[in-house]
Amino acid sequence: MENNRESFKSKFGVIAAAAGSAIGLGNIYRFPCVVGENGGSAFFIIYLIIVLFLGLPLIVSEFVIGRRAQKSPVGAFKKLAPDKKGWSLIGYIGVIGAFLILSFYTTVAAWTLDSVYRALTNAYDGKDLATIQTDFNGLLNNTWRTIIFEAIFMFITAYIIIRGIEKGIEKYSKILMPVLFVILIVLCVKSVTLPGAGDGLSFFLKPDFSKITGRVIVQALGQAFFSLSIGMGVLITYGSYIAKNDNLASSSLMVALFDTLIATLAGIIIFPAAFSFGIKPEAGASLAFTTLPMIFQQMNGGYFFCLIFFILLAIAALTSSISLLEAPVAYFKDELKMSRKKATIITAVLVFGLCIISGLSLQDDSPLKLFGMSIFNALDAFTANILMTVGGLLTVIFLGWKVRKSDFNDEFTNGGSVNMKLKNIFYFIIKFIAPLAIATILVSQLLK
Ligand code: PHE
Repeated sequence: MENNRESFKSKFGVIAAAAGSAIGLGNIYRFPCVVGENGGSAFFIIYLIIVLFLGLPLIVSEFVIGRRAQKSPVGAFKKLAPDKKGWSLIGYIGVIGAFLILSFYTTVAAWTLDSVYRALTNAYDGKDLATIQTDFNGLLNNTWRTIIFEAIFMFITAYIIIRGIEKGIEKYSKILMPVLFVILIVLCVKSVTLPGAGDGLSFFLKPDFSKITGRVIVQALGQAFFSLSIGMGVLITYGSYIAKNDNLASSSLMVALFDTLIATLAGIIIFPAAFSFGIKPEAGASLAFTTLPMIFQQMNGGYFFCLIFFILLAIAALTSSISLLEAPVAYFKDELKMSRKKATIITAVLVFGLCIISGLSLQDDSPLKLFGMSIFNALDAFTANILMTVGGLLTVIFLGWKVRKSDFNDEFTNGGSVNMKLKNIFYFIIKFIAPLAIATILVSQLLK
């Protein structure tokens, strides 16, 4: 039966699906937000280093594990190390992580839908920065408006999972994401030619090594894992669908490259414009949602660009959220023997409950706090900076130390036909460098 596991027809299929999971609000909203809060270029350099030396090997690791085991996370760990049951813990981290991430991701997706609505009704037209900022703040404090958009997004995500039409969505996003890419390029050109844009560009791109601190490294690690969708087993599931003759290293590279390219474009768009309009780079959650409408206002055809952009951003968020919801649903379905529909409805309702709380926690004077921060920020920091990094750490230790080296070699080289040279470099990073580096960063965070 296992040999009949459905696999992606084309090489582009798996890259599109994994990139669909990776590219989302993490690139356009969260990346500029953490870059801005962590001093700009210093963060960006560390981020790039982490993507290359830790992110890429981790994508490879998850693909190798998934394709070798031909199973989704919980089952994959059980299968590859049958005598050591404890490793399926990584699968559970994925299930819990997906649940928690969805709870704040849906809130940000709700802001995206709100922006679609504003774009459609031409509500940004002629407004100055102060008004756009007040409007965004008004949204955060408007309980019903937030809940309604959260509900719409959650409903669409759940509907797609219940009907099992993720593949259909991926087919559309193969066409739509290149369109998003083109709009991002247009926005880049507009943004860097705004008056005073140069300061924003240097903030983002001109290296200033003095700003590198422990906090910057921790945040960069968390952002890289979040943006690449690693450390939670999401890519293990996709790996199990990759055809046997597909080149895992080059597919992984494509995913990392696309994801990083989109984040970089987002930075080149947001910072020059933010500096030009007088928006503080450390503005946090509102950074992208106030800067972008301001840019569209200055453009010819701004109404259409703005509308199409936010619709595409919502779709990018959707391809990420379905990859997230799939994890707990698959678990409930496989391990607790629930029907797909029941599993989805239960998860979606639970997520929605927590998502309402995360949304409300951002209101002025909200008492919904955890460890001195809003529940929204606590969920965000806990999942990206701790849960996903621990998940990633366990994944590389598992592959480097528990799975037979011959299994790794066989899978990485497609039975000895490709990537013979790269094999040893990746294995060395996965076995030694990545566990050490991730553990050091994690421990330094705990000792703070
Ligand atoms: N990578 C997605 C984004 O950047 C979010 C995500 C995280 C998706 C973890 C799946 C798993 O928006």
